[in-house]
Amino acid sequence: MEKKQRENWGSRIGFIMAAAGSAVGLGNIWRFPYLAGENGGSAFILIYLGFVLVIGLSIMISEFAVGRRTELAAVGAYKKINKNWTFAGVLGVLSAFFIMGFYPVVGGWALAYVLKSVTGLLADAAAIGDTFGAFITSSIEPVIWMLIFLAMNIVIVAKGIAGGIEKAGKVLMPTLFVLLILIAARSVTLPGAGAGLDFLFKPDFSVVTGATFLAALGQAFFSLSLGMGCMITYGSYLNKSENLPQNALIVSVLDTGVALLAGIAIFPALFAFGMEPAVGAGLVFVVVPQIFAAMGGIGTLFSAIFFIALTVAALTSSVSLLEVVVAYLIDQRGWERKKSVYTAGGIMTVTGILSSLSMGLMSGFTILGVGIFDFFDILTDKIFLAIGGLLLAVFVGWFMDKQELEDELTNGGTIKFGLFNIWYNLVKYVIPVAIAIVAFAGITSIAQKPLMFFGLGIIAVLAIFSKKL
Ligand code: PFF
Repeated sequence: MEKKQRENWGSRIGFIMAAAGSAVGLGNIWRFPYLAGENGGSAFILIYLGFVLVIGLSIMISEFAVGRRTELAAVGAYKKINKNWTFAGVLGVLSAFFIMGFYPVVGGWALAYVLKSVTGLLADAAAIGDTFGAFITSSIEPVIWMLIFLAMNIVIVAKGIAGGIEKAGKVLMPTLFVLLILIAARSVTLPGAGAGLDFLFKPDFSVVTGATFLAALGQAFFSLSLGMGCMITYGSYLNKSENLPQNALIVSVLDTGVALLAGIAIFPALFAFGMEPAVGAGLVFVVVPQIFAAMGGIGTLFSAIFFIALTVAALTSSVSLLEVVVAYLIDQRGWERKKSVYTAGGIMTVTGILSSLSMGLMSGFTILGVGIFDFFDILTDKIFLAIGGLLLAVFVGWFMDKQELEDELTNGGTIKFGLFNIWYNLVKYVIPVAIAIVAFAGITSIAQKPLMFFGLGIIAVLAIFSKKL
């Protein structure tokens, strides 16, 4: 293979925006609040924060290091360092592919809500919940929105990821942030909001089980875009003079901040409106419009801007997922970019349609006990990402050279990384054991056991055929 200078991010801020753009998405604003709601609130949030700090941050540093060291996307990076580990990269590609099986469906909902915001959704606040239910279970409308959302991804990734997406993110991510602060401020000042703050900040550990830990761990990986090679790929474009641990810290703090802010925006209002915290996947689409509806005319405008920003946040994440699949086809299979994008996008069109229909028309159809949307969601979030993270930690801790890692993380000794030894021991010993325990406890207490074993089976098959991948 010819050695050419690898393309770099336009600027440091460009990289942080892209990596934070990948991390901040539906995971923070749609998923984190409803998972917290279903898992009892603050106890889940505390466990989540613990995992981000002890596991997520270290894994992100590791992914950046592997990517920048090898200057290759996930599969190539593993392969270059140790051929037997190719499967861990391929598992990441499969995860990206599966997440794209359901992510565009929710992205489509966000997009639809831009239009719905300005066409009367807020006029009848009491009907907002029913409207959402009717919308996602119908057979045509959500499918069309999903297809539009997916098409945006295809267009952006076909052009190459740096240009447009970097620019859109620079404007719209800060917009989203400001809006969330505004919504949170409104939410906490509603009468009766105190119960929501209690729910968020007063831990009730009686509801915690092994499944809670697994949900929190999976969410930490999902939200930080870890365990599937995405940050390896992004790191491979990172300039040699950048401070990797510092970048990882900034991205993690931004991501966690947005998730917490989404929680503070939603739960106080939810309790103020007398709703149940465990309403599930519709949470953000039901509570946020109600907050805006209570604001009168200006609420319509805010609602539209909020869903535009949410769509863009989703888009900056989903393009990174599509890019993982495309980078694999280009780097490892030698395909052209366009052919890779259209082929991957074509298959995602089919999985996206099936996922969307599984909310309504095809709700009776199940695989291993769950609908198609849940199949992709649970398989990735509850097993592939966590195991992907475990594999990465073992790989970095036991199969890479310590000196080489120190070199990479200190830019050849030119910058300081005072916590290097702590990071190294976490990655080598603590994280693999911690993930293994959580995965074991989670799998034994989760309802969807057949699906979990199926997932483990896929990983085993990949590992066995690793050399052929
Ligand atoms: N982190 C994204 C979110 O929170 O919405 C989802 C995601 C993107 C997961 C990229 C994994 C990934 F590689």
